[in-house]
This record gives sequence, C-alpha cells and structure tokens, in this order.
Amino acid sequence: MNGPIPAVVLGGTGYVAGELARLLAGHPHFALAALMSDSAPGEPVAAAFPHLASAYPRLRFSSQDDVRGILCETPQAALFSAAPHGVSAALIDALLGAAARAGTHPRVVDISADFRYRSAEEYTQVYRHAHGAPARLAEFTCAVPEQLKELTTPHVAHPGCFATAILLASVPLLKAGLIAPSIFVSGVTGSTGSGRKPVPGTHHPLRHGDLYSYSALQHRHVPEVTACARAASGVTAQYAFVPHSGPFARGIHVTLQAALTGNSNSEQVLGTLRAYYEGCPFVRVSTDAPRVKDVAASNYAHLSAVVMGGTVAVLCAIDNLNKGAAGGALQWMNRLFGLPETAGLTAPAPGWT
Ligand SMILES: NC(=O)c1ccc[n+]([C@@H]2O[C@H](COP(=O)([O-])OP(=O)(O)OC[C@H]3O[C@@H](n4cnc5c(N)ncnc54)[C@H](OP(=O)(O)O)[C@@H]3O)[C@@H](O)[C@H]2O)c1
Repeated sequence: MNGPIPAVVLGGTGYVAGELARLLAGHPHFALAALMSDSAPGEPVAAAFPHLASAYPRLRFSSQDDVRGILCETPQAALFSAAPHGVSAALIDALLGAAARAGTHPRVVDISADFRYRSAEEYTQVYRHAHGAPARLAEFTCAVPEQLKELTTPHVAHPGCFATAILLASVPLLKAGLIAPSIFVSGVTGSTGSGRKPVPGTHHPLRHGDLYSYSALQHRHVPEVTACARAASGVTAQYAFVPHSGPFARGIHVTLQAALTGNSNSEQVLGTLRAYYEGCPFVRVSTDAPRVKDVAASNYAHLSAVVMGGTVAVLCAIDNLNKGAAGGALQWMNRLFGLPETAGLTAPAPGWT
C-alpha cells in the first residue's frame, strides 16, 4: 500500500479512543482516518480532547456511515474498537460484513471484552447478555502480545488493563513451573480505568485522597485472565483477585503472591522473568520496585520479584490506557500489518504525571 494505512477508531469520545488518537498522531505508518462517535458525529474532535487540538485542528467525529465508507473503499484499513462491551461486537460485525461485501479486508483489534471468550455461552455467563456476533468469535485471539509468537486469526481481542498486568507477572512463572497455580493478586487502578462518564462510585471527589477495594474475589475479568494464562502457559491457575480504586488518573500496580514449587531464590525468579521477556522491548525486569509514575502514559511494563520463605511476590506496573488498552492494541495492529511491533510506541513515560 502506498502512503499511510488508514486507521479507524470506534467509541470516539471515550478515554481509550482519545489515547489511540494521541498515539496515532505520532505513528510512522498509520494515519487516523476517522474517530467514530455515536453521541457527537460532526462535532470537533478537539472539543472532546483539547489536548489533541494541535494534532487534529480540523478533524470532526465521524458517523457510522462515514466509517463504513472508509472501510469499504480501503483495501486494508486498521479498525480499533474502543466501544463498550455489549456494543462493540455488533458494530464490528456490521462493519466487517459491509467490508466483505465490498471486497476489502480491514484488520481489527477490539479493546472491549466482546471477543475475549472462545464461546458465546461463556461470555453470556459473565456479562449477562447475549453475544453480539457469536459467529465471529473464532476470528479473534485474545493474548498479551509478548505472550504469543504466532497469531493464527485475522483479528485480535486485547485482554484488558488489569489482565495485561496480571498476565505479564504470572505467565512466565506458571510456564516454568516455578509457582503453585493458586495465585493471590491485589491490584490498584487509576480513575481513567472507569471511563469517561462519572458515576457515584468512581467520581473524583470520592476517589481523591482515598483507597478502597471493589468486587473483591468477584471481578468479572478473572475468567478472561484464567483463560489467557492457560493458553499462554498450559497451566490452569486460580487467581484470587482483589482490585482497588487508586487516587490517581493513570496507571495500574499489581502485586501477585504465590507459593514456590521448589527452592528458587529472588535471583532465579528474576532470571526466569528476564529470560521469558528477552527480546521484548516494552517489558523491563529489574530488582527495583515498579512505580506507576515510571510507566504512566507509556507502553512500557515494569516488573520485579522478591522471594522469602517459600513465597514469591511479583510486582508489575503499567499504564491502564496505554499498555493496558490503546498501546497494547497498537502493538498488535503493528504486528497484524507486518510492521515493527514498536512502531509509534517507544516514547518513554513523562515521569511526573
Ligand atoms: N479505560 C481503560 O483503562 C480501559 C482499559 C482496557 C480496556 N478498556 C475497554 O475499552 C473500551 C473503552 O473504554 P473507555 O474507558 O474509553 O470507556 P468510555 O470512556 O466510557 O468510552 C466509551 C465510548 O464508547 C462509545 N459508546 C458507543 N455506544 C455506547 C453505549 N451504548 N454506551 C456508552 N458508550 C457508548 C461512547 O463514545 P461515542 O458516543 O463517541 O460513540 C463512549 O464515549 C471499553 O470496552 C473498556 O472496557 C478500557
């Protein structure tokens, strides 16, 4: 293809869509062709995202018809969905159907939960509504990019933000048989993890200066983590997960604890993590305790581990909107188009967010 590859983003006014637009503004091979919005078609993108005004001074939100037109006219476009679960699958299905009829072949990365399951029944058990496009589930693979070498489907489902951090920290040790498959996880997320719309439990005045857990041991993304970990490591593990709302806007920190199966020490566990992530430019393994500020707004993940008395604690910090959503999705899209996996993603964290 001559010139940049057109990229289209669904869920246009949302936080993840805004982060995708920010990343695409500096991408060497993709160019943002449309941000689709159901609620604000025709409105200036800079009105919803003033921080992107210099990158998109004239761009307006597109309608579904506009987006369908772009996908049907472009032999291969990049389609990102940052729409909510329950909305995303049907939208993607309609757009891929129209593209197929026009003879074009968009590649999709869905950041919602809609294509993370292998069956519509499993999805419905968790999300309590029918799946929007069950016939397309087999076209998607759900994985963290660092944990799958060969992709065999045309499209990808991003595993999500908490899931990315938990999988980065646990899969290498499960695969190496270093830990028992019963894993205790505590995680803290920033407020952008709840999306753009303020609701009572996640509103700033409540979160500011506070720290509290929610959905303890019942978080709905745990079955997705279990399935991805099984696919990547061959081990079925139990994750006892307690998420927390943190008093900051961006970032996730997770702490995993598990019993060691042998007598490994900290150096050996760190060595296993380093060996697994060798050649993975976005993952840094070190003896330093990961800090959210060192990765916030970047596609990097920082990992560390400590062993004491037969227990290992693995620590991981990522940015929820970037590595945990838009950045991880762009990393996959780079691979879907045969581009360097790092294209447009190597800017370091600002450090003082
Ligand atoms: N926030 C995170 O850290 C994070 C991390 C990983 C994955 N995700 C997933 O990424 C997706 C987007 O998350 P987000 O945080 O960007 O959410 P958000 O801020 O709430 O934005 C979602 C956008 O989707 C669009 N939308 C279309 N139909 C909708 C409907 N029926 N109800 C509500 N919104 C609708 C809206 O944009 P328009 O009206 O402009 O179309 C809305 O602004 C979700 O599936 C989420 O689970 C989020």
